Amino acid sequence: MEHLLKLQDLSRKEITDILNLADQLKFEHRHGIMHNRLQGKTLGMIFSKSSTRTRVSFETGMFQLGGMALFLSTNDIQLGRGEPVKDTARVLSRFLDGIMIRTFKQSDVEELASYSTIPIINGLTDYCHPCQVLADLMTIREFKDTFKGIKMCFVGDGNNMANSLIAGAVTLDIKLNIACPKGYEPDSALVKAATESGHLTLTEDVFEAAKDCDVLYTDVWASMGQEAEAERRKKDFAGFQINSAVMSAAKPDAMVLHCLPAHRGEEITDEVLEAHAKEIFEQAENRMHAQKAVLVKLMEKPKAVYR
Ligand code: CP
Ligand code: NVA
Repeated sequence: MEHLLKLQDLSRKEITDILNLADQLKFEHRHGIMHNRLQGKTLGMIFSKSSTRTRVSFETGMFQLGGMALFLSTNDIQLGRGEPVKDTARVLSRFLDGIMIRTFKQSDVEELASYSTIPIINGLTDYCHPCQVLADLMTIREFKDTFKGIKMCFVGDGNNMANSLIAGAVTLDIKLNIACPKGYEPDSALVKAATESGHLTLTEDVFEAAKDCDVLYTDVWASMGQEAEAERRKKDFAGFQINSAVMSAAKPDAMVLHCLPAHRGEEITDEVLEAHAKEIFEQAENRMHAQKAVLVKLMEKPKAVYR
């Protein structure tokens, strides 16, 4: 594993190794055991979009690993004024030991990786959010002990979260139902492959999707960058909500996940979110532990020779 650009690049073993290390790092952190595994190393964090969880979990994670993190808003660095991605990649590779990037186009992340000599981590694009799904998988395993026989549903927009959940479900052999309005389906190539392999069922019926599920997941109707569509989306997504009626279609011990931030009254009710705050905020905390595992896997080895 050289980079983390999208979840489907990782094998089942690579994901399992990350989750096992994340569990170990979480245990060590909770017990005050220091793990300076990235001493002297620096992570650059390029942000073209807002963030609470991703920024704070990567920054504190690097500190806890004995390294440091630099917050690089594209409002402040030359990338935001048109310096090419390929030049930014080669310059930052000289200073840093790894880069986390949150931006719009997946192709920019792929280009950054192809010109850099250091690991690149995708901290969210319009296409996917692999770090989030690693934390989600960690949380599911924590609460349900296993992925075996787990039935999951995602209600809402076929967005970056839906795409990465599909990739995770296929690799870990989880049964995933997605309920979304017509015209808002996830990436068609991912849908085709996951449907053919028997991992994914796509429907417009929220209750059918939630039926007998162990895990219910949702995300905002309008993602970052889609603010202008928010009003139209409110109409198109009406009914695509996790509420108590939808919960009653799922298994009685079903857990609820949300990547956050949540829009109460839209994709989830306040009642359901608060009733499942235990797992939702554990999921948020697990961002840090899962990402620390990714950072160790990618950055513990000596830096590659410049090319
Ligand atoms: N879930 C998530 O990525 O949150 P932030 O946008 O706050 O980083
Ligand atoms: N789909 C959301 C996820 C936020 C973590 C967005 O892209 O804004």
